[in-house]
Amino acid sequence: MGDTVIGFGILGCASIARKVSRAITLAPNATISGVASRSIEKASGFAKANSLPPDAKIYGSYESLLGDPDIDAVYVPLPTSLHLRWAVLAARKKKHVLLEKPVAVNAAELDTIIEACEVNGVQLMDGTMWMHHPRTEIMRHFLSDTERFGQLKTVHTCFSFAADPDFLKGDIRVKPDLDALGALGDAGWYGVGAILFAADYELPKTVTALHGPVFNEAGVILECGASLLWEDGKVATFNCSFLTNLTMDITAIGTKGTLHLNDFVVPFQEHEASFTTNSKSGITEFMTGWVSLPSEHIITAELPQEACMVREFARLVGSIKNGSKTEKKWPTRSRKTQLILDAVMTSIKRGYEPVEIVS
Ligand SMILES: *[C@@H]1O[C@H](CO)[C@@H](O)[C@H](O)[C@H]1NC(C)=O
Ligand SMILES: *[C@@H]1O[C@H](CO)[C@@H](O)[C@H](O)[C@H]1NC(C)=O
Ligand SMILES: *[C@@H]1O[C@H](CO)[C@@H](O)[C@H](O)[C@H]1NC(C)=O
Ligand SMILES: *[C@@H]1O[C@H](CO)[C@@H](O)[C@H](O)[C@H]1NC(C)=O
Repeated sequence: MGDTVIGFGILGCASIARKVSRAITLAPNATISGVASRSIEKASGFAKANSLPPDAKIYGSYESLLGDPDIDAVYVPLPTSLHLRWAVLAARKKKHVLLEKPVAVNAAELDTIIEACEVNGVQLMDGTMWMHHPRTEIMRHFLSDTERFGQLKTVHTCFSFAADPDFLKGDIRVKPDLDALGALGDAGWYGVGAILFAADYELPKTVTALHGPVFNEAGVILECGASLLWEDGKVATFNCSFLTNLTMDITAIGTKGTLHLNDFVVPFQEHEASFTTNSKSGITEFMTGWVSLPSEHIITAELPQEACMVREFARLVGSIKNGSKTEKKWPTRSRKTQLILDAVMTSIKRGYEPVEIVS
């Protein structure tokens, strides 16, 4: 049977690749087998600076890494506009694909990537790390508890950070030819994903962008928001921004309880994370306080969330090598998130009209 240790190739040396290469090193059953950049100097500089294993191969082109039979899977942190080309080529070379978010410029491009992965029998997963934190699973238990949480009514999410002037001038995430979705693709991806998580991946009926998004000179979004409406009356809103102080908030409100957290994308601390819940709260007799105070749930994590992501991906790749089918859950979630991002873009273009979600 195939090797249990999955050999990863890193396709491009973006700064996020430093975090994920550390995660591959920390994750069990995963190793870095190669790194590629458009120049061999850059790739070898990355290998040295990040203490890659001495036998990790250094490639001066993405094609050459994809031709290496020792590489089972690739991590792709390239700018979004390059995902279509390189993810499809990786799939054709039978490499499993861990793809940075936003996964594509639009859902049509993502569909081409998904199809290439399906046809070639390789796993596709996006790089949303918080999905793999053990906290996420425990929050899911609360949200699906009809006694403590009840029915979901409303979700608010916000992911923002105050980008520095260099980022706002030169980062790939503000360049229309590289990451055309700007803050919506980068920060909004998380807010939308958190809403879908809370709604247990039920797609909304309509998406309406909020008035007043901020664009840069090139027309890339630096800040925006939208509201989402479901058939049954559930409502969600999100904000994403490169222009406000750091926030990573989820508030999910049910008929019987509420869930709050303020660090959902990157936990405040690496090895411990928490969230708070209220259930069936009321006001004291003289209305001077609450009864049933919020509970804080603390979760310890043996591995950082990005290493949990690599572990899960390596596990899936290992079982596919051993004859199992690919796991459809991950590309399905990526696609739902992408459909909503597309709808926000369309709504902005149409003057903040509601846009129907058609899956
Ligand atoms: C490594 O992979 C093997 C085979 O799939 C599995 O039994 C083992 O639990 C994995 N190790 C860890 C620490 O996940
Ligand atoms: C949320 O989005 C709206 C509309 O784009 C914007 O006016 C507001 O400033 C945003 N808020 C934050 C915190 O980003
Ligand atoms: C964000 O707010 C905190 C306190 O609320 C402040 O100390 C910090 O400087 C702010 N960050 C930025 C980038 O403005
Ligand atoms: C692969 O399949 C064999 C036989 O079904 C099983 O014994 C083995 O544990 C599997 N290995 C992995 C890595 O899943």
